[in-house]
Amino acid sequence: MTKKLLSGRFKKTTHRLVDEFNASISFDKRLYKFDILGSIAHTRALQRARVLTKNEAARIISGLKAVEREITSGKFRFTPEDIHTAVEKRLTEKIGPLGGKLHTGRSRNDQVALDVRLYLKDQIREIVWLLHKFKASVVEVADKNLGVIMPGYTHLQRAQPVYLTHHLLAYYEMFTRDTERFFDCLKRTDAMPLGSGALAGSPYNLDRRVIAMELGFARITDNSIDGVSDRDFAVEFLSTAAIMMMHLSRLSEEIILWASQEFGFIELSDAFSTGSSIMPQKKNPDVAELARGKTGRVYGNLVALLTVMKGLPLAYNKDMQEDKEPLFDTIDTVKGALRVFAPMLKTMKVNKDAMREATKSGFLNATDAADYLVKKGVPFRDAHGVVGAVVAHCINRGKTLEDLTTVEWKGFSKEFGPDIKGAVRIERSVNSRKIHGGTAVTEVAKRLKDAKAEIKKGCC
Ligand code: ARG
Repeated sequence: MTKKLLSGRFKKTTHRLVDEFNASISFDKRLYKFDILGSIAHTRALQRARVLTKNEAARIISGLKAVEREITSGKFRFTPEDIHTAVEKRLTEKIGPLGGKLHTGRSRNDQVALDVRLYLKDQIREIVWLLHKFKASVVEVADKNLGVIMPGYTHLQRAQPVYLTHHLLAYYEMFTRDTERFFDCLKRTDAMPLGSGALAGSPYNLDRRVIAMELGFARITDNSIDGVSDRDFAVEFLSTAAIMMMHLSRLSEEIILWASQEFGFIELSDAFSTGSSIMPQKKNPDVAELARGKTGRVYGNLVALLTVMKGLPLAYNKDMQEDKEPLFDTIDTVKGALRVFAPMLKTMKVNKDAMREATKSGFLNATDAADYLVKKGVPFRDAHGVVGAVVAHCINRGKTLEDLTTVEWKGFSKEFGPDIKGAVRIERSVNSRKIHGGTAVTEVAKRLKDAKAEIKKGCC
């Protein structure tokens, strides 16, 4: 049983189990800097509104700063229930009853909305930076391997040859969209809710725009009920993170496949691989596997918050305290994954001979043979059928298209001439796709140049 901190209305102290159940201090303590920052801004606004004298405001602010120092130095003893009450309680212990004036014209409802927005804004910036560094590593590997040809796949079956650079730059496009989405989410997070009070707004003359400016917000929220009950920005962040992890998971899957003996396309550095406790020969791509696995918890966090919010009547409900752990866990997971992926990519060895070798079987140039006939006036559907028969012929005889003589080709269509040999060369196939966004080296080099410039410039 503990003495009630927040109310004189109760005759009984709260049951110990209720205190335990209610408490969020174990996880929301990470908001302390922003909670204190918000309280300092609120104190200044109270002074400007003439609720506090200059001297009172100064004493509260120096008290808050002292509490912050205590927390930063690890001396602070966190007590239930949450970071807001913990800071206020300690402030009052330090400066006396004056501490009780801090919460004038404010509720924990607008306070917590402010703290989470401040924290998330800070974290989005950090994530965008880590994403940028990760994208730089993707571009670096793409640049280093310009000219390496590999099979492109559909249905995980060899389909058409592509440049490895082209394949990697596909990830660059995905992660660039993720960066844009984070910036977009930042816009919605960048609204200052203080002044919304419990839900109906504050009766004090708090200059909300000045508070917003002081705290570095682009604007203020326009409806006090929405100000305390909106968690869209957090849901948006979680969905953006989920999409980003989906991309990272797809890349992970390819790294895992490519590092297998079946593919042998890459070798991860020893520093980014792990061994087996029993099989001495093993070199496992644990980092990629874990990133793929952790994608599950990030999806889970998104679904958790969507589910918390779905049935809530306006305005604040205690359910909303459940926004924090999914948010914090996602932030930690995304940051951890991005941090380890950049050096892992940069240190992996690309086995370009194995990639090139893999383009030799699987008839990756079959479409080119059909396109050859199209150029001679054969309708594509007919050409498709003819080349299908050629492929079947080759499979039966254990041959590739390159092995066939002109006479053999002619047996399938009189339109085939001696130049079919050149038309089915793998290099020719790749470089024939000069269309914007295609895999021809001219196109890939152009996009690579842009990507390098974007990375250098630091733009998304
Ligand atoms: N710890 C609470 C949360 O995270 C703070 C807001 C509490 N508000 C309230 N009316 N009980 O949501």
